[in-house]
Amino acid sequence: MADIRKLEDVVSLCKRRGFIFQSSDIYGGLASCYDYGPLGAELKRNVKEQWWKQMVQMRDDMVGIDCSILMHPMIWKASGHVDKFADLVADCKACKTRTRLDHLQNAPGKEDADINDTSAKVCPKCGKIGNFTEPMEFKLMFETQMGANVDDSMTVYLRPETAQGIFANYRNVLDSSRMAVPFGIGQIGKSFRNEVTTKAFIFRTREFEQMEIEFFCKPGTDEKWYEHWKQLRMQWYLDLGINKDHLRFRDHASDELAHYAKACVDVEYLFPFGQGDWQELEGVANRTNYDLRQHQRGMRSVTRWIENDRDVIKTPLVDENDKWDKGPLAYFDQPNNEKYIPYVIEPSAGADRGTLAFLVDAYDEDEVNGEVRNVLRFHPKLAPVKAAVFPLVKKEGMPEKATAIYDDLKGHFNCSYDLKGAIGRRYRRQDEAGTPFCIVVDGQTNEDNTVTVRDRDSMEQVRVNADQVKSYLRDKLDL
Ligand code: GAP
Repeated sequence: MADIRKLEDVVSLCKRRGFIFQSSDIYGGLASCYDYGPLGAELKRNVKEQWWKQMVQMRDDMVGIDCSILMHPMIWKASGHVDKFADLVADCKACKTRTRLDHLQNAPGKEDADINDTSAKVCPKCGKIGNFTEPMEFKLMFETQMGANVDDSMTVYLRPETAQGIFANYRNVLDSSRMAVPFGIGQIGKSFRNEVTTKAFIFRTREFEQMEIEFFCKPGTDEKWYEHWKQLRMQWYLDLGINKDHLRFRDHASDELAHYAKACVDVEYLFPFGQGDWQELEGVANRTNYDLRQHQRGMRSVTRWIENDRDVIKTPLVDENDKWDKGPLAYFDQPNNEKYIPYVIEPSAGADRGTLAFLVDAYDEDEVNGEVRNVLRFHPKLAPVKAAVFPLVKKEGMPEKATAIYDDLKGHFNCSYDLKGAIGRRYRRQDEAGTPFCIVVDGQTNEDNTVTVRDRDSMEQVRVNADQVKSYLRDKLDL
């Protein structure tokens, strides 16, 4: 079957039907920032809810937290972000466009040039070749000032990942819950990065939401847990209806690994950018015990901060002479009477990037009565609206009966009610919204109390007793 997914079609449907709008649209827009409209907000909420349900709620070895976006600046020193979270960029001397070095293409005839050789690169904006400034570091963390008084105000960062909030609370969770290693902490929340190049609608933006897990395990069991989470995360996308031909794993090569990682694999999705583009949907990393060890060092250095020496953030952290196991973040394994700093497996997904993948994968077109039908074939668990209720016509008590059914259903599922326009048009509107079922009250309803229930995908209609619509939907939607 031909691949009909096109980003332009999805973007246009998203705007037309109120899934996603450009942020600050009425002021001409704010680049790389997006707002979710009524249908989009429901869709993204369902993506996050499914993640939370499967990853946190249903697992005995997981708990969830919700940390503040602003955190102590020393957290970002210890994590390595203050010193290392930067992209290498170069500016085009002609048009001044700044581009990430790893996003610059080699000019024709210079395909074999080294990744850092700017003399071979083409400016993506004006096309000039080899006309760049020296590569320089561009810091990706957004900074802001906290505190009203000049004396005690300080620079804080908008978090560039939710992960560090979990590491910073690992001890609190251990001390306040009955969790024991191996266990994990999940979090969903906003992250911010001053990305040099943004990309393709909501794929890479400067404000985005992450769904992250830090899973703490005994050193030596980390490879087993890495494999476990890798398979589980792939299965999550498959279970929610993503076509398996559009998903794959890509292992990071050793020179690609982040400074903290022992191994990393991306779950990639075949996004419909250009001719099709395999891009990271989520990463699963073995972060070793790097972060907890770093935070132990940060906790020692912070005494200087407390004494008002803010320059501590610019100097190396206090070394612990490798006595990690005696530190405050070491874990005491009581049954085995041993102490260690747990290793961490981190499945890190983007809620917006996931939402985009679910949208483009659900997009389909078919033909009904000689007309093209746009339909979003969402998994029912993700569909923004689960059922729409219509009276066939605005008379013979049909609106009253349909309203009663709608009022009964809306406490259980997100539903909509529509009485405007021809029935075919109303079906089309719901198909574009990805609504799995439409319920119609018609002439026969008065006679035998049955309504039609139409399936979005097969477009088949069955008659169901009005009193049983709720249990019928419950069964079919499997929520
Ligand atoms: N804690 C690890 C971490 O943050 P990452 O690969 O930088 O790892 C994880 O980010 C996921 O977050 C990505 O796979 C992607 O889904 C999402 N993500 C990262 N940067 C993003 C951006 N600028 N816009 C949208 N999503 C982003």
